[in-house]
Amino acid sequence: MKFFLDTANLDELKKGASWGIVDGVTTNPSLIAKEGRPIEEQVAAICKIVDGDVSAEVVSTEANAMISEGLKLAKIHKNIVVKCPLTRDGIKACSALSKDGIRVNVTLCFSAGQALIAAKAGAYIISPFVGRLDDIGWTGMELIKSITQIYRNYGYKTQVLAASLRSPTHVIDSALAGAHIGTMPFKVLDMLFNHPLTDKGLDQFLKDYAKAFQPQNA
Ligand code: G3P
Repeated sequence: MKFFLDTANLDELKKGASWGIVDGVTTNPSLIAKEGRPIEEQVAAICKIVDGDVSAEVVSTEANAMISEGLKLAKIHKNIVVKCPLTRDGIKACSALSKDGIRVNVTLCFSAGQALIAAKAGAYIISPFVGRLDDIGWTGMELIKSITQIYRNYGYKTQVLAASLRSPTHVIDSALAGAHIGTMPFKVLDMLFNHPLTDKGLDQFLKDYAKAFQPQNA
């Protein structure tokens, strides 16, 4: 499973990248807005930190405008993946951009039917939102299972990117469901490291070693 960071914050990206386990980045207009810099500048800076797919989302809502915005975004760096929302216009833009060789991440997916449409439009990535479905009382993870199954049934090449992951359990369950990619906030990636038995075990190893080989105080 590929790990993507769902952030536009450069400090978080530098820290994650230093661990050598970050395969890509997803951004959205809300995340870009939080950093206070125009998308072109912010994603260019992100591409210098992480050598992997970097999703940059269009903010137009009409297909032709999305296409020209997508073409501009794609020119920023070879790793840019253009993100389009799962609307009729977004799918029209996805079809056109994909035919042009531009990789598209179709976002805001909340049903298996929508995921089928994105695959048929040639999407490089589909982004189903787990946490936001949980928020309305649904089981978001069921969507990841359905989409991976459907894509397997027909051999669609579109990668399933489990998005809106809010906890380590979300990441693990997405991996079990066969998602190709999990995108998560830095906080969730950091939490994946934690286990009390790791800390306890390391503490004991170091104490035992020190007792055997280091001079004791009189
Ligand atoms: O980037 C899309 C998605 O991952 C957003 O997550 O937590 O705002 O629902 P969240």
